[in-house]
Amino acid sequence: MHYDSITVRLHWATASLVAVLWIIGQTADLIPDGPINTAYWSVHVVLGFVLIVVLIWRIMWRGTGGSRLPPANAGALQIAADSTHYLLYALLLCAIVLGVANAFVRGYNLFDLVSLPQLGDKAWKKPITRWHELAANVLLGVAFLHAGAALAHHYVMRDGVLRRMLPRKAGSP
Ligand code: HEM
Ligand code: HEM
Repeated sequence: MHYDSITVRLHWATASLVAVLWIIGQTADLIPDGPINTAYWSVHVVLGFVLIVVLIWRIMWRGTGGSRLPPANAGALQIAADSTHYLLYALLLCAIVLGVANAFVRGYNLFDLVSLPQLGDKAWKKPITRWHELAANVLLGVAFLHAGAALAHHYVMRDGVLRRMLPRKAGSP
């Protein structure tokens, strides 16, 4: 049993984008103000918009053609797994909505080339940034728990749960 290749690609695209966005968000302030700092943050905002497309695609694919596999666990463990997955979707949504609000309340200037329209009261910049960072950090924490559970399936329970979300080897069913 294996997730279809689109589900697998969208899952790993989501995970990679979240990791890169978080790393940029946590390291950008180490770069002094100037064109490199602007470009670094601009990559964050552009990848943030890419994540929105990937997530919408993921949710639409899950609801239409994407494979839905039987539960990987039984009883309380399955309730924990399902709850974690919904929590991940909810946290992704929170981080993204607050990220977009952050970009527009700042009227973000991308690569010193184009500015997003400035919307809302600029006084919201600080609280929105704080909430955006909080959502991003909680998301990372839950994603680590989720990854730990996937690795426990693989190395402790020794079942095929992690493998079903990995790219399929050529020729395997
Ligand atoms: C930011 C990082 C990540 C996010 C946001 C994320 C999100 C998700 C979500 C929402 C699902 C549920 C899919 C669905 O049913 O719609 C899922 C499934 C899965 N994820 Fe992740 N994931 C991340 C990282 C990882 C990592 C690092 C691993 C492996 C070490 C992993 C392994 C899996 C596996 C094996 C499944 C399938 C579980 C099953 O079939 O029940 N994920 N992921
Ligand atoms: C889940 C995905 C995301 C993660 C993990 C993430 C992470 C972060 C982090 C850690 C910060 C630093 C906060 C601080 O300095 O206190 C940040 C700032 C920011 N993020 Fe995100 N972010 C995500 C998505 C987005 C999206 C979708 C957008 C907009 C399209 C966005 C726009 C911004 C902006 C404008 C800032 C402030 C930049 C500045 O200080 O100049 N983020 N993000």
